[in-house]
Amino acid sequence: MPYTNRIEASLLRSVRRGQSGSAPPKLAAALEHAVLPGGARIRPQICLSVARACGDDQPNISDAASSAIELIHCGSLVHDDMPCFDDADVRRGKPSVHKAFGEPLAVLTGDSLIIMAFETLAGVAHLSCERSANLVLEMARSTGMPHGICAGQAWESENEVDLSAYHQAKTGALFVAASRMGAISAGADPEPWTELGARIGEAFQVADDLRDALYDEETLGKPVGQDEIHMRPNAVSAYGVQGAIRRLKDILGGAIASIPACEGEAELAEVVRRTSERLTPVALRTAGQTA
Ligand code: IPE
Ligand code: IPE
Ligand code: MG
Ligand code: MG
Repeated sequence: MPYTNRIEASLLRSVRRGQSGSAPPKLAAALEHAVLPGGARIRPQICLSVARACGDDQPNISDAASSAIELIHCGSLVHDDMPCFDDADVRRGKPSVHKAFGEPLAVLTGDSLIIMAFETLAGVAHLSCERSANLVLEMARSTGMPHGICAGQAWESENEVDLSAYHQAKTGALFVAASRMGAISAGADPEPWTELGARIGEAFQVADDLRDALYDEETLGKPVGQDEIHMRPNAVSAYGVQGAIRRLKDILGGAIASIPACEGEAELAEVVRRTSERLTPVALRTAGQTA
């Protein structure tokens, strides 16, 4: 997997920073449990791939951006698994944080990871004040209200839900941020990169809904059938399995077509192709089904 070493090294640095000095031992252990070992690390991979396509002239900044995105993601998963949200006992094949450490520490772990993400971005201001500030703003927009993860999770408390607004805020916003923050890290204009992130995010959500409907807990490392249990709007109930697969294929084709002309264009298209392959449930990966 490209960039794995860079991603793991910068995440480990952040976790160790959070555990240093006189840190309370249980919260220090819970931070590590939530971040290491990780899942697919798909968002930081996208961030670094876009940074590379834009020249990646300041790798310390792109490392900060990619790890901040993954820290936010890990924090959102800790909160998402709690009894007041999805009440899930398993995450990434091990007990979820509230199961292993209790609910108060799970709240604090999610909070700490979100704060750590912003701290990481602010920590590169000495390299470029402008890039650091723009990264903080981008991260805030993808995390809070009105269009970030908080908004996305809040749609689950509404009586009527627009599936596309829900998916865009809950999942899409962080993929858009991953793509745009890759560009910002390298001093490039983020605007041309918005569509790529949006399309990968949309495809990811459809693939996640398919996996939730078609896989078992052992394969996924987290509870399955959750969308049906919680009566959550999802792509499989909206379009059926075949319809969702068609949609996934269309979206991924569009993602590759949306990559702006740049030096690293071909390499990035290959990353998106590999990502599409990994997104598609194994049983559905036949020739021509991924972009
Ligand atoms: C799962 O995301 C949560 C959603 C946004 C649907 P991932 O499938 O990227 O989870 P990890 O990081 O690989 O565990
Ligand atoms: C959780 O989404 C991730 C967030 C965006 C906070 P889901 O509840 O749909 O994903 P899983 O199935 O728990 O990974
Ligand atoms: Mg959830
Ligand atoms: Mg969940």
